[in-house]
Amino acid sequence: GRHIHYEESVESTQKIAQRLVYEEAPEGTIIIAEEQLSGRGRMDRKWYSPKYTGIWLSMILRPNLPPPKAPQLTLITAVAVVQAIEEMTNLTPQIKWPNDILLNGKKVTGILTELQADADRIKSIIIGIGINVNQQVEDYPEELQPIATSLSIECNQQLKRAELVQILLLKFEKLYTLYLEKGFYPLKLLWESYAISIGRNITARTVTGSLYGKAMGITDDGVLLIEDSAGKVHQVYSADIEL
Ligand code: BTN
Repeated sequence: GRHIHYEESVESTQKIAQRLVYEEAPEGTIIIAEEQLSGRGRMDRKWYSPKYTGIWLSMILRPNLPPPKAPQLTLITAVAVVQAIEEMTNLTPQIKWPNDILLNGKKVTGILTELQADADRIKSIIIGIGINVNQQVEDYPEELQPIATSLSIECNQQLKRAELVQILLLKFEKLYTLYLEKGFYPLKLLWESYAISIGRNITARTVTGSLYGKAMGITDDGVLLIEDSAGKVHQVYSADIEL
């Protein structure tokens, strides 16, 4: 449509989205690139984005919601990615809180959400999605090989990236509409049905330290609940999870 910006090579689609937000780009604006020269992940990590092999895209949303609801949009995006992968392949991806998508325990998709808000209202939210599609094992730098995978590695065939993007955006639109009409609850149930860590013991590494316990579920705000061995339930807003 009118609001899809397709680029051959960029530093990061997130950066372009930030500029477009500043220029008042409307909700639904998509930036998609064949390659990112400095793709970024959460916690300022690098996101490896080689040419013609993955889906590197950023999406601008402008929901009329208060800022604490922003994490819900990340969770909805993860559900859309899982559903799109399930429709394109016979794979069954799982979500690792908050937003990693795994196949056989390795990361196939990362989601990065950047928020622009004032005290009581979201002005814009940029959701960055990186899906490893057609990479082979040897395409990855050695340090990534044990932790990263692609759809093609897992299902032994090359996939049409354009088709996957199309399915992904349709799935997202459907879930986002459901969310705006019915609230987060139905989406939360869907998310939990795909989540890997719920009911299991995990370690959450936060900026202030580590917490070990059983992942109980998420709250309506997308906060992870962990019960420690003393039975105390902790709310985790941001962490890296080890299974
Ligand atoms: C993570 O798992 O840490 C999040 C990775 C997000 C990667 C995507 S690719 C498209 C968009 N542009 C970026 O530079 N990052 C996101």
